[in-house]
Amino acid sequence: MECFILLGSLLALYAVLYLGFKTFIGFDQPPGGSRGKGKKQDNVDKYANATYEELLEFPERKLGLPLISLEELSKYKGSNSKLYMSVKSVVYDVSQNEVYKQKGGYHVFTGKDSSVALSKMDFKDEFFDRSKLHWRKDLKREELKVLQDWVDFYEERYPIVGYLKEDIEMQEQKKDL
Ligand code: HEM
Repeated sequence: MECFILLGSLLALYAVLYLGFKTFIGFDQPPGGSRGKGKKQDNVDKYANATYEELLEFPERKLGLPLISLEELSKYKGSNSKLYMSVKSVVYDVSQNEVYKQKGGYHVFTGKDSSVALSKMDFKDEFFDRSKLHWRKDLKREELKVLQDWVDFYEERYPIVGYLKEDIEMQEQKKDL
């Protein structure tokens, strides 16, 4: 009998540890995840050798997709609209995921350029304010690496619906905001 109780307790302990690790340390985790600042899930630092200039580059653009202005983007966060968000100049449709809906924990990212907030792993208002901070001008190399990990993450999971007009104008005219 004691043997079964002991075995049961060990199994329960294992389950708790497994779920704990899965949730908070993360096997399936996004970049940065709950472990904070920018560590990749498999601990491989994919951009370890990337230079600052390389990390500043704009993601390659697919042909035929529209440019979406910040103003237009801001409309894509309502309960009756699709949910879009911009990461490093690319606009993704994230409507399929509950976490981006109005009651979801990550709704704050929708309708905006979320690059800086993602790169800093912080939801502070100022990190969504492009007049204060812009991913191309105000991030350190380590933050740009985190941002690039996020680009890879979104690229894999969500359809691209366009590119952020203001960012592309910046890219094409090499002008500052
Ligand atoms: C206590 C802090 C946090 C916890 C416990 C947490 C936990 C999680 C978990 C469990 C997931 C889902 C992982 C999966 O799909 O397997 C997730 C996804 C995500 N987290 Fe966090 N997180 C935290 C903080 C943050 C912060 C500070 C940011 C950015 C500012 C952030 C951005 C995201 C994003 C963008 C996703 C991906 C959502 C998607 O699937 O598209 N998280 N987080």
